[in-house]
Order: sequence, then structure tokens, then C-alpha cells
Amino acid sequence: MDLKDKVIWITGASSGIGEALAYQLAKEGCRLVLSSRNKDTLEKVRQYSGIAEERGMVLPLDLAASENFPELAWQVIKRFGRIDVLVNNGGVSQRAFFRETEMEVARRIMEINFFGNIALTKAVLPFMVKQKGGSIVAVTSVVGKYGTPKRSIYSASKHALHGFYDALRAEHWNDHLHVLLVGPGYIKTSLSYNALKGDGSEQGTLDTGQKNGMSPEECARKMIHALKKKKREIYPGGLKERAGVYLKRFLPGLFSKIVRKVNVT
Ligand SMILES: NC(=O)c1ccc[n+]([C@@H]2O[C@H](COP(=O)([O-])OP(=O)(O)OC[C@H]3O[C@@H](n4cnc5c(N)ncnc54)[C@H](OP(=O)(O)O)[C@@H]3O)[C@@H](O)[C@H]2O)c1
Repeated sequence: MDLKDKVIWITGASSGIGEALAYQLAKEGCRLVLSSRNKDTLEKVRQYSGIAEERGMVLPLDLAASENFPELAWQVIKRFGRIDVLVNNGGVSQRAFFRETEMEVARRIMEINFFGNIALTKAVLPFMVKQKGGSIVAVTSVVGKYGTPKRSIYSASKHALHGFYDALRAEHWNDHLHVLLVGPGYIKTSLSYNALKGDGSEQGTLDTGQKNGMSPEECARKMIHALKKKKREIYPGGLKERAGVYLKRFLPGLFSKIVRKVNVT
């Protein structure tokens, strides 16, 4: 797929993977819609990306409040006439055992990572069907394929995305809808700072895993390559996290013993 002039809507574009994607897609000549909660930071990302105002739209949204997503999708259509790619990247992580996690916090993580994500897809899908094609990129996680301690709800939200998008891909193959699932391992971003503890407060520290992780720029490069090649699933990140995906699938008993002791922060 040639990305020049494509209209690409990125959530979580104010930071980390989404921000790195915005800079690289701007260089590819894409038209961009940048979303997250923080309008000022998004505006800075648009400026740093070097994309002109008429080719870059800042569209703040809260993934925990999806009622206005159909209206937001209309705003993009009115501005650019189409939506070629939706990158559902925005999300929040968890750093607490399940026994310590309040149900309200569990619901918030599901609302942002799962319901907010699929609500935006629901708002964009009719336009992609009408224009006879489009790509939806969902950023999940390696823990969308296996569970680790202190990530129970986060892992559940990401597993849910895998099931959802596999089903959606099958429902819309005839509409030329391409679905790419991206399951990163550790990427060096602010994710662990913003991760929620059991009471809903933010962890506020950088985990060793994230600190030593792949750069968001490298992750974005791999995502763009996979998008151009119309791949179905990729796992950017370190060898250990990626190996877990295959270990869980082929040696689940061994995996369940290893994961008890793994240092997940
Ligand atoms: N970093 C990793 O090691 C790693 C590993 C696996 C998967 N991932 C996934 O990668 C994606 C991007 O995360 P990242 O690593 O780049 O972390 P990040 O730097 O913390 O970025 C998270 C992004 O999500 C946005 N966001 C958070 N809550 C939101 C809400 N309620 N509504 C709208 N936007 C919201 C944030 O923007 P605002 O605060 O401005 O709203 C920010 O732009 C996430 O889905 C994460 O689960 C990351």
C-alpha cells in the first residue's frame, strides 16, 4: 500500500508509539488526524511533525467517553472526505494484583482499552465499507496473547481486542477491510508512568522493562512496514516477550510455570 495522501487517524497520538507514528507517517506524505485527551500536546505533535494545518487535524477525544465518536468521524469526513486508516493505539496499563484492583478501576481499563477502541471502529466502519476498503490497526500487547501478574485486567482488555478484531476481519473480508493487530512487547514510552494502581492512581514510575525496551520509533517503523504489506498480526519488541507468545501456544504447561516468577515491572 502506498501511504502518500492517505488519511490516517491515530489515537494516543500525544505520546509514545502514537507520537512516533505521527512523525513517520507525516514523512510518508499522509494526511493525519491526531487524537488523545490533551489538545495542546496534540497541537505540538502536529507542529513538530512538520505537517501543514490543512493536512493535519487535531481532534481531542476521551476513549472513556465514546458517545460523540460518530460526530467526530463525521468531522473527519467533512474535512478530508475519507478515512483510509484508523490506528486504535490509545490505552492505559495496570500495575496491581487483581485482589488489590477495585472494580471501578477494572471497568475504567476495559472502557478505555476495549469499549473506547471498538466504539471508534464502529463510528469509522460505515465509511470504510462505503469507500470499499480501509485498514484498522489495533495496538494490543503481547499480554493480549498471554497473561502476566499485575496485568490481569489490562491483559483481559487486550485479549478481548484480539477476539473482536479477528471476528471483524472475517465479517468484512468482502468489503476489503484490512485489520492489523499489533502486539508490542516492552516499548520505551510513558505507559508504566500512567499505568493504574489498584486504587486508580497512576504508578508514576518507569519500569525496568519499559526502560530497556524497544524505541517507539523502531516500533512505529515496524507498524508502518506491516501496514504497507497488509499483514494481519505483528509483535514488535524484545525476544523474551515475543517468545512468550509461542511458548504459551506450544508449551502451555511450561509457560504457566515460568510466568509465575517472571519480573513484570
Ligand atoms: N509501551 C509498551 O511497552 C507497550 C507494550 C504493549 C502495548 N502497548 C500499547 O501501546 C499503546 C500506546 O501506548 P504507549 O506505550 O505509547 O504509552 P503512552 O506513551 O502512555 O501513550 C498512551 C497514549 O494513550 C492516550 N490515552 C490514554 N488514556 C486515554 C483516554 N482515556 N482517552 C484518549 N486517549 C488516551 C494518551 O494520551 P492522553 O493522555 O493525551 O489522553 C497517550 O497518547 C497502548 O494501547 C498500550 O497498551 C504499549
